This record gives sequence, C-alpha cells and structure tokens, in this order.
Amino acid sequence: MKTIAVCCGKGGVGKTFSALSIAVELGIKSSGKKRILIVDLDPSINTSVRISGSDERGVTIAELFQDMTIDPGQAIYPATENYPGVSVMASSDKLDFVDQLITKRKNPDSILRRILKQVEGQFDVVIIDCPPSRGTLVSNALVACDAYITPFGLDDASIDGVLAIERLVEELINEEVLSERPVNLGAFCTAYEKERSRATKNVIHVANEYLKGTMLNIQIPGTSHVREAVSHQSTLQFDRKHKVCLAYEQLTNHIIKKMSLRGYSL
Ligand SMILES: Nc1ncnc2c1ncn2[C@@H]1O[C@H](COP(=O)(O)OP(=O)(O)OP(=O)(O)O)[C@@H](O)[C@H]1O
Ligand SMILES: [Mg+2]
Repeated sequence: MKTIAVCCGKGGVGKTFSALSIAVELGIKSSGKKRILIVDLDPSINTSVRISGSDERGVTIAELFQDMTIDPGQAIYPATENYPGVSVMASSDKLDFVDQLITKRKNPDSILRRILKQVEGQFDVVIIDCPPSRGTLVSNALVACDAYITPFGLDDASIDGVLAIERLVEELINEEVLSERPVNLGAFCTAYEKERSRATKNVIHVANEYLKGTMLNIQIPGTSHVREAVSHQSTLQFDRKHKVCLAYEQLTNHIIKKMSLRGYSL
C-alpha cells in the first residue's frame, strides 16, 4: 500500500479535484484492479460528500483520531459509480476540534499513520486530500505518506502555500518526527489560463523562481467544465479526450514514474 498526500497551505487551489482525478486515473490505468482509498482529512467534508453522494455519516475519521480502539474499516464508505474502485475514509466537521485536541497527545503527528497501518493490505493506493491549513492534520498527512504533491493556483498566496508545505516537511525532519523524507512529486498549476494577463505571467515567473526543481511542466487547464463536474459530484474522466483529463492522465503518469524510480510500485 502506497500513500500520496495532496496538499497545499492555501485553500481553493484544486486539491480535492486533483486528489479525486488522480484516484480515478489510477483506477482506469489498472482497469479497475487497484483498490484505492481516498482519505478525506478536511473538516469541510467536501471529498466525502462528492465521492459518496451523501453527507450522512456514522463513524468518521474524527472518531478514529479520538479513539484508536475503533476499527478504521467503520469509517470507510464506498464511492458512487462516478469513482470506480474508490472508497473513502470519511471526514466530519468534528475534525476541527480533533485538530486542536490532538496537539496535547503523545506523538500527535503520527496518529493517521497508525490508523492507516491497520488497513494495510486492504488497499493498493491511499490518496490523502488535505485541508487548506498548515496545522496538525497536515503534519499527520505528511508523516503518513510515502509521497506528496502540491497543486497551486495562479496567485502569489498559492506559491506561499506550496512553500509552507516544504517548510513543514523540513520542520518534521528537524524535530525527528519524520525519519525518512517523503518523495516530493512536485508542484503543478491548476486552473491554468493560456491567455495570461501580465499579473498571471508574473506569478508564473515567481513560481519558476521559488519552486525551482519541483515545479512540474504539467498544467491543469482552467475550464468551467471542472466547476460543472464538481457540482455533479464527479470528475471529468468519463470524457477521456477532455483537455483536463489528458492533463490529469499526464500527471498520473508522472506520479507512477517518479514513484517507480524510488522503488514504489503503484
Ligand atoms: N482546473 C480547474 N478549472 C476551473 N476550476 C477549477 C479547476 N480546478 C478546481 N477548480 C475549481 O476551484 C474550486 C476549488 O477546487 P477544490 O475544491 O478542488 O480546491 P481545494 O484546494 O480542495 O479547496 P479547499 O482548500 O477549500 O479544500 C472548485 O469550485 C472547482 O470547481
Ligand atoms: Mg478540498
């Protein structure tokens, strides 16, 4: 089982849509053979609702964080037919309190890793959809993952958000919370507009400067189809020729290749 965190310290950059699109791409590439788990680590429950089509929940990841004796399987729900082969470890708004509570616990950054250890063998790939914060929940994702990838939008705050994740990784290494550095799969631009204004050209310039070496030459085009897909609780992967699908396919190929270079088979 390999775990990939989709994270950025800035909200609204396409983390959730990217996490779901990558999950569906991985499913398609394996002809539905891969068992994929999306972990919704966002108290706003976006992913859980989008994938399962319902906001009615029993056990969620919030209870798992609070009580390690609960079987994590109880918080895992099947996805709708829009997400073949995908299951979701559901979130709830209680996760906000958990974020504050767990800081008082011993090893507060390693709770998710311990939860996922218990479902090892039940899934091939785990994708963590992170909240737009820089707090304990995101540290948990970085400690639990083998690799992470950072989407960013065409604004300076997004680039700060990517750099915040880099700083968090360094802090976790310096504090010896992380013994091994997760693979940085790179940063990619979402909602990318080809006809760029001077301001957005400037952001690309800044991104090239600050994200040197990690910025991918893969852009997810900005299109109203994505907003429609989100409102229909879907991705766009049913239309294989759509430019957004082609971009996520390219991104997924990059992820598979980079992971395999590290000896991780996806
Ligand atoms: N490629 C794209 N083109 C156009 N709109 C996009 C694209 N990707 C994402 N969006 C829009 O941006 C909004 C935010 O997307 P998403 O929920 O995936 O971001 P997020 O980073 O997970 O947000 P949050 O930080 O709130 O969790 C959505 O309304 C979505 O429709
Ligand atoms: Mg999100």
